[in-house]
Amino acid sequence: MVDALVRERANLGMDVLLPEVEDALRTVPRECFVPGLPLADSYDQHQAVVTKRAPDTDMALSSVSAPSIIATMLNRADLRPGQRVLEIGSGGYNAALIRHMIGDEGKVTSIDIDPEVIARAEGCLREAGTDHVHLAVADGEHGFPAHAPYERIIVTAGAWDVPPTWDDQLAAGGRLVVPMRVRGLTRCLTLERGSLPGWWRCLEVDMCGFVRMRGSGEHWERMPLLHEREGERVGLRLEDGPRVDTESLRASLEQEAVTLWADASVRADEPTDGQDLYLACQADGWALLTAQRGAIASGLLRPVVLSGTPALVDEDGTGFAYRTLRRSPHDQDRWEFGATGHGPHAHQNAQAMVDLIEAWDRDRQEHPSPRIDLVPASTPLEDVPTGRVVTKRHTRMVLNWTSRTPQPSCAADGS
Ligand SMILES: C[S@@+](CC[C@H](N)C(=O)[O-])C[C@H]1O[C@@H](n2cnc3c(N)ncnc32)[C@H](O)[C@@H]1O
Repeated sequence: MVDALVRERANLGMDVLLPEVEDALRTVPRECFVPGLPLADSYDQHQAVVTKRAPDTDMALSSVSAPSIIATMLNRADLRPGQRVLEIGSGGYNAALIRHMIGDEGKVTSIDIDPEVIARAEGCLREAGTDHVHLAVADGEHGFPAHAPYERIIVTAGAWDVPPTWDDQLAAGGRLVVPMRVRGLTRCLTLERGSLPGWWRCLEVDMCGFVRMRGSGEHWERMPLLHEREGERVGLRLEDGPRVDTESLRASLEQEAVTLWADASVRADEPTDGQDLYLACQADGWALLTAQRGAIASGLLRPVVLSGTPALVDEDGTGFAYRTLRRSPHDQDRWEFGATGHGPHAHQNAQAMVDLIEAWDRDRQEHPSPRIDLVPASTPLEDVPTGRVVTKRHTRMVLNWTSRTPQPSCAADGS
């Protein structure tokens, strides 16, 4: 598994695994944390193993995370022997890796909101022969003050915001690694304290997916449904603005669409998550379109990523455009991007999306990632650094992705 991870990271141009991370992954027996699973599956680098689901919705509530994302997060955490570490969201495996890396002088505290998860982790850690992991049932929104301060806080559930307790409990010079929602997309942010109290600077942004944070930090985006037929459902996911007129959007989806094609394409095996984040940083009226497969089969939608496709809602909330793609007519190994618009401003919306995709294509070599800052939510807008501002409960997230096209300073709708 570790050999495969190392090879894949090299192929994708990712940072090499730190020797300490590699050693921990080679040492801790993952099979003890996923009992009953065939060994090949336990050591599949991309397989997260769901250990608990909500009985009513079947939504995953807990899992043992996939080795590939665990490796990335441990690399970002840059753990040293002797450190005190708080893991928010338990399962045992990651805590055992951290324990291995920080050694006997260090101290890892692993908390989970769910007593069943903690009981399970306790048994697995015993089975793996790992001692000195401090497990506790607690809501991560409040951190775990009893063992603070921590040199590292590693969050392993999808958070929407950074509560002040994490700042309070992080030691000077500490680092916070947290999967966070960025305008509806989930990205793992590596954060260090910024220039003023309560300010954070993001050092790295990585692609990831995590079960949702529950408890007092839980947050749900607005999710208007645009088409309800079973197997063909289409909806939008909106973290911040824009305001939407759901009835008009529903009607617009039934009307004839306009599709325009961008002068931008990628190889079939090229990841495009950078494009999603770029569009999220640049776009006014940003939303994610979610769909069931049947909506494409029936011709209601052109091809999209079902779990979330970049979309733009127009200013009056009555129409929208979403990104689509097709195999290039000129080169079968490449995919071309386009945009499909619906509603009274269909052409204008589709053109706006195409323009952004072309800007991404021009910018992506020179500026491969955004700048993300967090400031306290109480910071007056005039004191917030320039950029696209998304206001959350505790913080304002400020997004900047340098573009060759000059961008005006702008606040996201609703902020
Ligand atoms: C992906 S799992 C953790 C995986 C684990 N770190 C491992 O070693 O593979 C996410 C966990 O976060 C927990 N969780 C969700 N909300 C939480 C919260 N507010 N506080 C603490 N834990 C939470 C869930 O119960 C779940 O067990």
